[in-house]
Amino acid sequence: MCGIVGYVGDEKATDILLDGLEKLEYRGYDSAGIAVRHPEGAIEVIKEKGRLSNLEKLVAEAAPQGTEGIGHTRWATHGESNQLNAHPHHSKGDRVVGVHNGIIENFAELKAELTDKGYTFYSETDTEVCIDLIDYYYRESGDALDALKHAKAAIHGSYALAILFDDRPGEIWVMRKSSPMILGVADGRAYLASDVPALLKHTRDVYYMDDDQMATLSRDGIQFYDGEGHPIELELTHIDWDIEAAEKGGFDHFMLKEIFEQPVVIANTLRHFVDTNGWIRFKGSHMTPDFYKSFDRVHIVACGSAYHVGCVSKYVMEELARIPVDVDIASEFRYRNPILSEKDLVIIISQSGETADSLAALREAKKQGAPTLAIVNVVGSSIAREADRVIYTVAGPEIAVATTKAYSCQLLVMDLIALDLAVTLGRIDEARVQELLGELKSIPRKMDAILKHHEDYKAIAQHYLNDEHMYYVGRGLDYAACLEASLKLKEISYVHSEAYAAGELKHGTISLIDEGTPVIGIATQPALSEKIRSNLLEVKTRGAAVFTLVMEGLDGFDAIGEITTIPAIDPLWATSLSVVPMQLMAYYVSVGRGLDVDKPRNLAKSVTVE
Ligand code: AGP
Ligand code: GLU
Repeated sequence: MCGIVGYVGDEKATDILLDGLEKLEYRGYDSAGIAVRHPEGAIEVIKEKGRLSNLEKLVAEAAPQGTEGIGHTRWATHGESNQLNAHPHHSKGDRVVGVHNGIIENFAELKAELTDKGYTFYSETDTEVCIDLIDYYYRESGDALDALKHAKAAIHGSYALAILFDDRPGEIWVMRKSSPMILGVADGRAYLASDVPALLKHTRDVYYMDDDQMATLSRDGIQFYDGEGHPIELELTHIDWDIEAAEKGGFDHFMLKEIFEQPVVIANTLRHFVDTNGWIRFKGSHMTPDFYKSFDRVHIVACGSAYHVGCVSKYVMEELARIPVDVDIASEFRYRNPILSEKDLVIIISQSGETADSLAALREAKKQGAPTLAIVNVVGSSIAREADRVIYTVAGPEIAVATTKAYSCQLLVMDLIALDLAVTLGRIDEARVQELLGELKSIPRKMDAILKHHEDYKAIAQHYLNDEHMYYVGRGLDYAACLEASLKLKEISYVHSEAYAAGELKHGTISLIDEGTPVIGIATQPALSEKIRSNLLEVKTRGAAVFTLVMEGLDGFDAIGEITTIPAIDPLWATSLSVVPMQLMAYYVSVGRGLDVDKPRNLAKSVTVE
């Protein structure tokens, strides 16, 4: 999720570790720390909440002289952002010290097992449990590789881990699954990092570790091991990016990088919230059957793209759970004197967890005694702290102002809540839940299939570079998807666009349609296919240039105008796929118009003012 660095060589480790963490700072974090092994062998851990500058002050005071160590910038997933939860974490007596990127899904079970074995814990993190697990196996065998192998077998989740053992000076051990770990080596020195920018100053020839692999770094170089612990060799990769390109993982903009991260983010989210038995588990969020049965109406309240998630979720939740769902723009909700009671669940969706209007809406709901649930991406954010319950999206840091992966993650979490609610209320049976979960699990590969053709959307976008007005039309869920498609275009390409319920066009707005007016249709709902087709014909006969995004299996749209298709999926989940082409088109229009995609004019990543 955030940043890891490590070094073993003959230079002072602190400068190299801090410089490496600075190169990863762009990713956003809430705390940071380093561990340095002193020349006489003791490992010193220095860590602090907040910016790297806070850590640098402590490091300057302590001034450890060692020439090997590890460092970490944390994007909290388990436990508030504070000094105690900051990494590195250590086992009793500093026997094992380590840093971790990712999420240990079964950390609660592992923590209980270790507690039974006499372990105690000082932090709220899943990482500390993982370090103690390695400690346990290391005490059993005294063999570092064996300890990692056993820990790897016991852990469910994602990790990039860098480990120091107190009795193995000159060695840093690493293992990874789903979180990146990149290693570099130069004469007598070895480096590790979670992202290339932290390595470029030292080497451009790096090793990308694959899932399940382990390695040990020393002054003699790097030894890799496969998942069973057999020594293997990895191919060197030469990096010719500059620092800026490296921060974007080789993509031209953070937004495109984050669009392409969506399949992984969705897969991580599903793994995080659906256990190995196929049960939905909002661990630690107290989403109990009694809670689900305690309310009879849902209000989803948010701003911008988060509000658009709510618009999609209304269709999904009402269809599955047969419970009334209202969706409100937070800045409207907070001032319209909403009528709420303890039977009204208010769900606040917010990537930043700091949006002023959404926070105010949360406080209004609480004032009226309504139960509140926050869906946020930042642990310990104001909305997370003040809501009665919180479910964290695990989208990782989102840098681009225009949200993409966080939107997709929020949408998926809301889908899972709708499923959990529906099955708890007995509105759908277990077989239907498993069938729909199966369809959700197909999203990552279907997103990949769309992303593989991203150049097609670049070509389509060229048609719109000079348009000043565009219309997105859809019915049902597709209308909700149009809202997000339209906002994406507006906010990064400055083109005026409107999302319209296709059936509503004839009640006025169709008068705006003229010769060549661009109209983008979204058609993924079989039950509404005929209706949206006739609406698109209506605008075409009035001169519109129609382009339609169609779900495979729905016919007749190519007779109206240019089309492109997305893979078939249960119509309830269609927006998770239809949003990707819309993100790409908005992106390529913005690039084509030569605009600052990642930092659009007038916008901020988090709107913390009214
Ligand atoms: C999304 O592309 C926009 N940048 C904006 O609409 C955003 O969704 C809105 O400001 C809400 O932010 P939040 O999710 O952090 O509350
Ligand atoms: N899950 C760990 C924590 O919450 C690691 C988070 C990260 O990747 O930075 O501390």
